[in-house]
Amino acid sequence: MKKPKTVNCGIIGCGLMGREFAVAAARWPALLEKDVRPEITAICDLNEDLFEWYTSNFDSITTVTKNYHDLLNDENIDVIYCSVPHNLHEKMYIDIVKAGKHFLGEKPFGIDLEANERISATIKENPDVFVRCSSEFPFFPGAHEIHKMIHENSWGKIIEVNTGFLHSSDLNFEKTINWKRMVNVNGEYGCMGDLGMHALHIPIRSGWLPKKISATLSNIVTERYNKAGDLVPCETWDNATLNCEVDHPTEGYSFPMTAKTYRIAPGETDTWYIEILGTKFSARYSTKYPKTLQTMSYTNGGKQEWRSEDLGYTSQYKTITGGIFEFGFTDAMLQMWAAYFDELANPGKEMPFGCIRPEEATIHHKILTAALESGKTGKTVYPKLAD
Ligand SMILES: NC(=O)c1ccc[n+]([C@@H]2O[C@H](COP(=O)([O-])OP(=O)(O)OC[C@H]3O[C@@H](n4cnc5c(N)ncnc54)[C@H](O)[C@@H]3O)[C@@H](O)[C@H]2O)c1
Repeated sequence: MKKPKTVNCGIIGCGLMGREFAVAAARWPALLEKDVRPEITAICDLNEDLFEWYTSNFDSITTVTKNYHDLLNDENIDVIYCSVPHNLHEKMYIDIVKAGKHFLGEKPFGIDLEANERISATIKENPDVFVRCSSEFPFFPGAHEIHKMIHENSWGKIIEVNTGFLHSSDLNFEKTINWKRMVNVNGEYGCMGDLGMHALHIPIRSGWLPKKISATLSNIVTERYNKAGDLVPCETWDNATLNCEVDHPTEGYSFPMTAKTYRIAPGETDTWYIEILGTKFSARYSTKYPKTLQTMSYTNGGKQEWRSEDLGYTSQYKTITGGIFEFGFTDAMLQMWAAYFDELANPGKEMPFGCIRPEEATIHHKILTAALESGKTGKTVYPKLAD
């Protein structure tokens, strides 16, 4: 096996997701084929308490700072992962690109459409910088299989598509408010900004772009306690249901698509799902049952029987993990990062399934902006998604 080239990486935002990247990099030997290997050399956060976990686990870290410009000015850093709250995306992403650093940014890739468009404009002005946006759930084996089926297009006529991301982390009314529940930090999209990219990655990659959106937005918990114990307004949308009409990209008919982003879905934890119902073939996959892909083939007059298949560890990038073992969130993170570095190392490579591209992040913003308008006005909105 050829020795992979080391790529020095910096992390800006060392919270929940920063640690996930660090651990994915540490698990790199699990990947059997790779051209490059990420090494974490620099970390940045305003919260110094987070540094010890990194420095005690990663001897490779030489820069620890509260100023992200230290990473941008470091010519030894090749790639940056930026995982900060949404109100910081625009400034930091633009600064990273202008510094000539390749990066993977977190969703929603700008707090709103205007911020996203300014980020996109800077990326277009700097075409040598390789930029992608995070979205790991389509790297679960079941999701990956469904993506292959979308290419094969054996649905017959698509009857409907349902996609979404559900969790119940806000069902507890006593949960203290944090930045994800504050409009000025998380953004006006609320749950859609947090979860929309997860739900829309596969539809957007498949060319299933809503021409018509009618959204229902719910603010179920309108007040939460802050850390001081005072009850303060909690103004973000908790749940959103997008009812969309989609033109089939090649076959001249339209079909309905629902996209749900729920922070309050009793009983759910981190449930990502996609379901495609067709006249000849249907498929569905949910991380609630992460092993199992369900499909149904139908011929006129035949039986309507769903088939369940346990997929095992059938990842896009082969690993040392046995094929009968189980796949989980951290595996999806590893696969997403493998896709990022594969595309970075092999520009123009035909990817089986890749990370969200900047132009796809913009389409997702246009969909969420239309949904926000629809939810607030009660009207159906016809977004202009293509340039
Ligand atoms: N892909 C996923 O599954 C997933 C899951 C959760 C969050 N996210 C996204 O990741 C991003 C971060 O979310 P998180 O859950 O990791 O949040 P977090 O609050 O756990 O971490 C964010 C970190 O950014 C730091 N920070 C704030 N201002 C900073 C500054 N000026 N300089 C350096 N660091 C600064 C904070 O101190 C904090 O440690 C968001 O965009 C969020 O939407 C993605």
